[in-house]
Amino acid sequence: MTGPALKTPLPGPRAKALIERDAKVVSTSYTRDYPLVMARGEGALVEDVDGNVFLDCTAGIAVTSTGHSHPDVVTAIVEQSQKFLHMSGTDFYYEPQVRLAEELSAIAPMPGPHRSFFGNSGTEANEAAIKLARYYTKRPNIIAFFGAFHGRSMGSLSLTASKLTQRRGFGPFMPGVFHAPYANCYRCPVGLSPDNCAAECLRFIEEQLFVHLVHPEEVAAIVVEPIQGEGGYVVPPNVFHERLREITSTFGMLLIVDEVQSGMGRTGKMFAIEHTGVTPDVVTMAKGIASGLPLGVMTSRSEIVSWPPGTHASTFGGNPVSCAASLATLKLLRDSLVRNAEVVGAHMIAAVKALMDKHSIIGDVRGRGLMIGVELVRDRQTKERATTERDRIVQECFKRGLLVLGAGQNAIRLSPPLVLTTAQADTAIEILDQAIHSVRPSWAP
Ligand SMILES: Cc1ncc(COP(=O)(O)O)c(C=O)c1O
Repeated sequence: MTGPALKTPLPGPRAKALIERDAKVVSTSYTRDYPLVMARGEGALVEDVDGNVFLDCTAGIAVTSTGHSHPDVVTAIVEQSQKFLHMSGTDFYYEPQVRLAEELSAIAPMPGPHRSFFGNSGTEANEAAIKLARYYTKRPNIIAFFGAFHGRSMGSLSLTASKLTQRRGFGPFMPGVFHAPYANCYRCPVGLSPDNCAAECLRFIEEQLFVHLVHPEEVAAIVVEPIQGEGGYVVPPNVFHERLREITSTFGMLLIVDEVQSGMGRTGKMFAIEHTGVTPDVVTMAKGIASGLPLGVMTSRSEIVSWPPGTHASTFGGNPVSCAASLATLKLLRDSLVRNAEVVGAHMIAAVKALMDKHSIIGDVRGRGLMIGVELVRDRQTKERATTERDRIVQECFKRGLLVLGAGQNAIRLSPPLVLTTAQADTAIEILDQAIHSVRPSWAP
């Protein structure tokens, strides 16, 4: 497959027909920003049902870490499928689940020994972490952050504080959840600049939450994304995570890092928290962990994962085919793709930063590896959010054969498969440049 290469107007006739069928029978809650109807994928390229080929800088929302249908992953899936598809790892034993737990223990971002719990998605990994924290500490409360996304089932949704539409109409939520400001240095919640920051935003936890609302000894855990994903690809300074580690250690809380989006090599290290030197108590994973097969995992130190049989389980969790896909994925990540994410990611970040000279609408470029956020503003001084312009740029990229998605209110996220080449990164940036140019408002300098 080569591309990007467009053959029809978008959507093409076959795509149009399928979208009409979808509209009649599929839940209206899904957010489709543009009419991509996929037929097949290879590496970082996606072909639609009309033969149009797109360059994929979404990876199906940061999932197809090894590229679409990597042959090693497909082989692992086929071989496992021919042996057996399911036996429920919660009631019986099978090797792929044990081996995956062993391999995750070898790469976990904290000292072992470890144990892993297996579910099917990011939200399930976080539900497991929330339940474990309450069970282990015998404390009821959890602290999370504004802008966070941890999933949409009721426990994790109670922690999620990203878009209002994700919560509106679904309350009341799980009690005992408190939110604090995240260290978004482009929009510092306490008006400081990154140069003189010692994570003052965390004073809110110590001087407000712990004084007025909740005793620290009644808090089970702080749950945090090392880099906020849905919230806008926000990279906090390391001191933010260091202070969180201090607070949690001081008061006997667990530090839970949600690596569902930032993990599995995307940032140029296996886990984004490794950039900070902080060791968490619990790590949750999903998305890129099995290249597209459903799998969510919560890993913690063995002494913490000491809940007795029956306390938590999942029929499908740790499905053997997903575990086989994950084992093949981890090998590819370790062998070359984490490094590729680091190298191509640095190249891509520099190239997007260079676009700032041409396009004043780009207010901030941030990220690590191939987890890159481009925040768009109407004015670099006032930082007024260019939300409608962002939405139009996403559309314009699609029309030119580049798949990107938004994050937060006014950022574009670049989260390609980790197999992206430097040449493909350059193509993506060229298209992004054209797309931004095409929506340039008349008032722009
Ligand atoms: C950081 C983070 N946590 C949790 C989730 C939820 O994952 P899932 O959609 O697999 O339940 C997401 C999904 O975007 C995420 O980005």
